[in-house]
Amino acid sequence: MKILIIGNGAREHALTWAISQNPRCTKIYCSPGNAGTAKLGTNLDIDIESNNEILKKCLEYCIDIIVVGPEKQFEQGLVNALKEKSILIFGPTKEASQLETSKSFTKKMCKQKKIPTGNYKIFSREDDAKKFLREQPKPYVIKADGLAAGKGVLVSSNIEESDQFISSIFEGKIGLEKSKVIIEEYLEGQEMSVFFAIDKNIIKFVGSAQDYKRAFDYDRGPNTGGMGAFSPSPLLTKRTLDKIVNKIINPTVEYMREIGSEFSGILYAGLILKNGEPKLIEYNVRFGDPECQALCVRLGAQILDIYFSGAKNELSGLSINEANDSAITVIVAEKGYPRNPRSGCELNDIVDIKYDKALKIFHAGTYFENNFLCNAGGRIFSFTVRSRNLNEARTIAYKELTKIENDNIFYRTDIGSY
Ligand code: AMP
Ligand code: GLY
Repeated sequence: MKILIIGNGAREHALTWAISQNPRCTKIYCSPGNAGTAKLGTNLDIDIESNNEILKKCLEYCIDIIVVGPEKQFEQGLVNALKEKSILIFGPTKEASQLETSKSFTKKMCKQKKIPTGNYKIFSREDDAKKFLREQPKPYVIKADGLAAGKGVLVSSNIEESDQFISSIFEGKIGLEKSKVIIEEYLEGQEMSVFFAIDKNIIKFVGSAQDYKRAFDYDRGPNTGGMGAFSPSPLLTKRTLDKIVNKIINPTVEYMREIGSEFSGILYAGLILKNGEPKLIEYNVRFGDPECQALCVRLGAQILDIYFSGAKNELSGLSINEANDSAITVIVAEKGYPRNPRSGCELNDIVDIKYDKALKIFHAGTYFENNFLCNAGGRIFSFTVRSRNLNEARTIAYKELTKIENDNIFYRTDIGSY
């Protein structure tokens, strides 16, 4: 099977690695890919913002299945564009991807289907939003409605900062376009991410994880795309999973069917758990980054089976086996990340170290220039270890990380410790 993987992060490197383990995989292409994926397959230069260009390249390279990492391609309607073509893809249509791309869409669905989530109000006028905020208890939760590349949410008790955030959303400085503002009830509790594969016929549990969004130790500093994760989440008992499926996932799938936008693909539920009761914070229509790195080393070659069976609506016949072990991933980022990341740092010294063979290094946005490995973005590597339990995986990961002596990077030292 010839596979095209879209994206350039450590999530996509991890997907590439897992898929390359599957005997059904004969050739992997990545676009744009990074220096890590180039070692497992061929990176292709495609304008991935154009469905037509992707389609053209798939025909040229005889691609059997496309695996998409980021949400962008679902939002731009790649699945719609491939309908009735012979190339397989497992993911939502443009309309169904609104579960991630439009928070107001998801909130309205929650209200209609009585899915547990925080109370909220949507505003299209700045002064109304600011007035309402003053009537709310702290901390405030403020969100931009549309896609915002991980920068669309503020949780703060500071009224000036909150006002500023609301203004920035209405001015179009946050998010990909000017959007409405959502003010939401603050939900207290423990956070986890739960992943499902969903096709026309069935909902299958894939795995769970917990991620760390703040830049610095003990959850200090600005929000980031994610500084580390581990899988599975110890918060997820069988009873809680049943509740999540019955109260949250089933009604979601039912709603999407009722409105004629049936959901297919990976559904990532971001949840808050309090006293054993799950509430939905948000949906994503893809694997999370960095959660995917920890999931991929545990699921291995099964990842391709999930995408393949899902694309053919044959998930019913697939058993997804979660190993009885744990994995951790710690992000190594450029030291200015997330506020002022520089690109172009030399990283050869980091990859040339002799590490424990339990460690996998997944690259994010790296490239080679004159034989030097350089970084293109703020997050550089995911140091990922799978082991018998989380403690052991964490010990190995941090022992290996201390071998790095490079002043241009930093990482959190507390991933997996709470
Ligand atoms: P989101 O992009 O919606 O996942 O939000 C980013 C992060 O903000 C989440 O992972 C939570 O840590 C936090 N967050 C979002 N909504 C809420 C809420 N209603 N209550 C508490 N924390 C929240
Ligand atoms: N780890 C959060 C995300 O991928 O959206």
